[in-house]
Amino acid sequence: MTLPPLPGSLPAFPPGFLWGASASAFQTEGAAGTDGKGPSGWDEFAGRPGRIKDGSDGSLGTGFYDRYREDVALLAALGAGAFRFSVSWPRVVPGGTGPVNPAGLDFYDRLVDELCAHGITPVPTLYHWDTPLPLEQAGGWLNRDTAHRFAEYASTVAGRLADRVPMWITINEPAEVTLLGYALGEHAPGRKLLFDALPAAHHQLLAHGLAVAALRAAGAADIGIAVSHTPVLAASDSEQDRFGAELYDTISNWLFADPLLTGAYPDENFAALMPGPVADDLDIISAPLDWYGVNYYNPTLVGAPAPQALDSFSGFEMPGELPFGIRKIEGYETTDFGWPVVPDGLRDMLVGLKRRYGDRLPPLCITENGCSYDGIEDARRITFLDGHLRSLHAAMAEGLDVRGYFTWSLTDNFEWIEGYAQRFGLVHVDYPTMRRTPKDSYHWYREVIRAQRDLRRPLPG
Ligand code: BGC
Repeated sequence: MTLPPLPGSLPAFPPGFLWGASASAFQTEGAAGTDGKGPSGWDEFAGRPGRIKDGSDGSLGTGFYDRYREDVALLAALGAGAFRFSVSWPRVVPGGTGPVNPAGLDFYDRLVDELCAHGITPVPTLYHWDTPLPLEQAGGWLNRDTAHRFAEYASTVAGRLADRVPMWITINEPAEVTLLGYALGEHAPGRKLLFDALPAAHHQLLAHGLAVAALRAAGAADIGIAVSHTPVLAASDSEQDRFGAELYDTISNWLFADPLLTGAYPDENFAALMPGPVADDLDIISAPLDWYGVNYYNPTLVGAPAPQALDSFSGFEMPGELPFGIRKIEGYETTDFGWPVVPDGLRDMLVGLKRRYGDRLPPLCITENGCSYDGIEDARRITFLDGHLRSLHAAMAEGLDVRGYFTWSLTDNFEWIEGYAQRFGLVHVDYPTMRRTPKDSYHWYREVIRAQRDLRRPLPG
């Protein structure tokens, strides 16, 4: 692939490259109890006192349920080719199993129609962390049954939308759900099981595999998954630091990617801790994917377990019982979240995926990449996005087949346990009024998309 660099501006991406933005249901929709929606594990968790740092509970989101037309208009004016949103499982199947809520499906039907009417490809994620509460109460992802219920729900959604949705995502970031939700207890459902959380990893992978089959049977095609990846650096050369870093690398990068792409767990010890007929499940989990989605934010510096004060940098408490600790990476700009800005990490990580999986790596798509910065004049977000797009381009010039880039996020939204404090949007949301104001980065991204399109327009005459 030859990708000519353009002096002074971003280099040219290949024709057909998808320029998009991402969002998720729980973070934006609001309308928590509207039109028959059932509660999710996140509704329950965020309602527990003290769980969300700013005291909010996410129940209003950004008002997307009522304002989706306005947000689609913003996407259209941006020139976005695609929008990645998520379908709320408890809005479609309030009990997690059993009756479907027609009004819930109708909402996504309207959203898909609105996107299509503006020439924007709808890219739904079927699970972005909002498990129906009855299923969570029955064990959530620790319970194998949840995987089967997920496949049923996937089939229901595809039955309604597959005629207009050309590209699908099963699950978002199963590693974060496992680690933050079930191992550390910092996200819903708030379980602190440490290594006993591993069945949650296996059951999400199984749910993905079963859903791929269910989606295809219901007429859906072009199916992927969104997996978080982070280059892991060892805090020092000491044996303890290298051990901690390797273990963290395995858990956060390969525990999910290896089963999906090679049909095996990265390590016999992990395979032995998984429940059920693991070998049979791995056949289901490794069903060929049409593409593989990568969420990238930053690299991670990891060593031996560290004192709490250091670990609290990562935004999460890492209990001393875990055999690794996250350290602050020095020498880089940081976002408002304190995350280091390391654009080269994206290229390194993509090249690392190719090295590990070779021809088994399907075409890739960057399903999330972005940063939290306050303010409408957000030059630092522009610098962040520009750097990461250049890094992505460098990886593609080295032979990586990447089909699209979705920035996180279209609008500011409910940032999980941070509440509304961290702002990742291209569009500012004034929460008391829900008024949307495009930030400088929105205007910049629009120019990027337009310039890339113009590059491919034939010259007049
Ligand atoms: C999640 C998003 C989240 C973003 C920023 C990703 O882990 O998929 O829901 O808002 O990171 O923290």
